[in-house]
Amino acid sequence: MSGKYKILMVCLGNICRSPVAEGILRHLATEKELEIEVDSAGTSGYHRGEAPDIRTQKNAKKNGVDLSMLRSRQFTPEDFDNFNCIYVMDQFNYRDVVLLAKNDEQKKKVKLLLNEVFPNENKSVPDPYYGGEKEFEEVFQLVKKACEKIIEHNAVK
Ligand code: 4NP
Repeated sequence: MSGKYKILMVCLGNICRSPVAEGILRHLATEKELEIEVDSAGTSGYHRGEAPDIRTQKNAKKNGVDLSMLRSRQFTPEDFDNFNCIYVMDQFNYRDVVLLAKNDEQKKKVKLLLNEVFPNENKSVPDPYYGGEKEFEEVFQLVKKACEKIIEHNAVK
């Protein structure tokens, strides 16, 4: 792996939480002219090829982030080779991704996104899939805080 620092955002379906994380981090990195490459994936292939959930897209758009061009894909073991850091949204994602790791070096790449905001608390970004507008907004604001922290850390690298 060479060149830019590469970050992968992972959730279950890759249609609600991780696309928001991908969109926000890319948006912030562009604003700060930081050389980061961002992608996202789901531990499941349930929504393979689909655009983000329409509620996710609407909420992100309201907050100034366009997610319409993103398409869901499933996480693969090769992602460990292609990314420097893999942020997961919850404990289930953590378990599912770590299960595919070949060694400790790969395992160490996997981090809970909200530990950026609440260090060592192992909090999860709540799954908004069965929620409403309030839950989607909550996800956006939580993920935004975490992405701002990632940018802060990268800025001082
Ligand atoms: P995500 O949300 O993991 O944030 O993309 C979900 C999307 C789809 C499902 C569950 C959560 N699903 O059960 O299809």
